[in-house]
Amino acid sequence: MLYTEGGYTKIELFRKNGYVVLDMYDQAADPQEWTEIEFVDWKSSGETRFAPLASAYGDMECDGFWNHTPPKTDKDGVWVPANTQKAPNLVRRAEEPGANIGRCRVIELLPNQYGETLYNFHRDDNNRLNPEGTGWIVRGFFNLTDNPDSVMVLRGDKDDPSTETRIPLPAGAQLIVDTQRLYHAVWHQGDVPRYCLITSWESGPELDAYIEKYNGVGEVASYPMTEAQIAEGEALAASKRAARAAALAARGEDPTFGDGTLRAMEQLSEA
Ligand SMILES: [Fe+2]
Repeated sequence: MLYTEGGYTKIELFRKNGYVVLDMYDQAADPQEWTEIEFVDWKSSGETRFAPLASAYGDMECDGFWNHTPPKTDKDGVWVPANTQKAPNLVRRAEEPGANIGRCRVIELLPNQYGETLYNFHRDDNNRLNPEGTGWIVRGFFNLTDNPDSVMVLRGDKDDPSTETRIPLPAGAQLIVDTQRLYHAVWHQGDVPRYCLITSWESGPELDAYIEKYNGVGEVASYPMTEAQIAEGEALAASKRAARAAALAARGEDPTFGDGTLRAMEQLSEA
């Protein structure tokens, strides 16, 4: 079911919580293509790297489509041959919905702490330049490595833990998230990197049918955490925000975008 909000076509199943979880994929049946493709340094957090499968104009880079000449919205991504040739299964999965694809890439995320994840909370800017009357752009997250104790952390209100959902990420987990609506970041427990396929898709009848085919649900139980763990994470995030704000203030820079979102968040535009 589709509906229109703010001039964009959206999928009904996202309306309540902003995310959808699909059936598990049999990841173990596929080769580990993410070990063969080329990752590029992007941004400077040091915690993440990306391997582009589709970029704005087919180059081996991961910048937002609007940062190119000419700028474009997060649609009509161009395949990057050097990587797609090595990752036919990943390309097949990105193409399966039949929806317009924007950015498509594999993320590599190093292990982190829950509090760092809260600090990394951000919303994406997928719909910048997206013309009204078309479909709202959402993002698929297909976990490739087996990380059953790592979670996609989502919040409607970044400062309200009661709005939080934590979705576990075993191999084959398939989520689709309205990442422009929800604050999101991944808490990755483990001692080796996590890899995940991230694809921007346009909402519309194709993506809606795909979600239905794989029994998408708009609400799941959260990975369990104690109140003490959550409080500890909040404290760590608060201390990191304070340190960041102080460092920016010392350089005479406004630490926020004017809406309370710290500039640091913008440097981590993926989960
Ligand atoms: Fe993101």
